[in-house]
Amino acid sequence: MLKTPVEPDEARTSNPPLPLAGKMAIVTGASAGIGRAVAAQLAKLGAAVVVSGRRMARLETLAAHITQMGGAALAVEADAADNAAIDQLLAKAETWGEKTGCGLSMVVVNAGRGLAGGLLGSDESQWEYLYRLNVLGAMHLMRRAAARFAEKKQGDIVVLGSVAGHNISPFSGMYGSTKWAIAAAAEALRREVCGQGVRVTTIKPGIVESEFQDVAGYTFDNFTKMVQKFGAVLKPEDVAAAIGFVVCQPPHVHINELVIRPTGQDYP
Ligand SMILES: NC(=O)c1ccc[n+]([C@@H]2O[C@H](COP(=O)([O-])OP(=O)(O)OC[C@H]3O[C@@H](n4cnc5c(N)ncnc54)[C@H](OP(=O)(O)O)[C@@H]3O)[C@@H](O)[C@H]2O)c1
Repeated sequence: MLKTPVEPDEARTSNPPLPLAGKMAIVTGASAGIGRAVAAQLAKLGAAVVVSGRRMARLETLAAHITQMGGAALAVEADAADNAAIDQLLAKAETWGEKTGCGLSMVVVNAGRGLAGGLLGSDESQWEYLYRLNVLGAMHLMRRAAARFAEKKQGDIVVLGSVAGHNISPFSGMYGSTKWAIAAAAEALRREVCGQGVRVTTIKPGIVESEFQDVAGYTFDNFTKMVQKFGAVLKPEDVAAAIGFVVCQPPHVHINELVIRPTGQDYP
């Protein structure tokens, strides 16, 4: 008798391994919004996740939730604008990886903030910090991760850009300039390390409902009025699903860049 590819008994007893089983991811800015959803999504796909940010209580709640669902998670407090803290985050993740047997193979460079206004309208006292967090801190993490991954000849670095850095607008010009810069750095790094099997991906979301708008100082007049015409905006989970799709591609496939907008968002 011919054997079917999977006999019914086998199908009942053996679940296929999850696509990211045995891998570890660091997600920065995991205490809220996109980062929290990405951490949950990668864990659902089988990755052990190191969730990082400044609000430790929230990170611990997320890690406990992932663990309850059968995943593995470690909460690490780290300021993503502080290079020494980033180095410690990497070191803690690697120490944890030795215990869990999951090697670090994904870094999601997500921590960031917005700032309402262009060059004339934005609060200049915030400029330096905006660049330290969104650009210099992000680049430091990308550099450190890329050096490790190049040695191992594999790894994913996923960088959160924005459509605000893709189509520079006058109403979020300073923020947009940081996302323009980090997307340029990500593409430069991709060219440096793709030959060693390392994938550097830029994700450019449109409007996502999160704490981002409040932190950036967007108001009804400078934000909500414009956004209302777009209809439903993205949820953090929509971006997380896209990132899950990107990192689950086979090693020879790299989706370099992904722009993901609410369907009704024409601009930026
Ligand atoms: N929402 C949007 O419409 C949108 C669109 C395009 C791109 N993005 C980008 O997507 C990323 C995530 O944004 P989001 O919408 O999820 O915003 P969010 O809800 O405000 O979350 C931001 C996350 O970044 C963390 N963070 C901020 N400053 C930090 C610091 N100094 N050190 C460590 N962590 C820090 C926050 O954690 P703690 O406060 O606990 O540190 C929080 O977990 C950002 O890079 C943002 O620029 C957002």
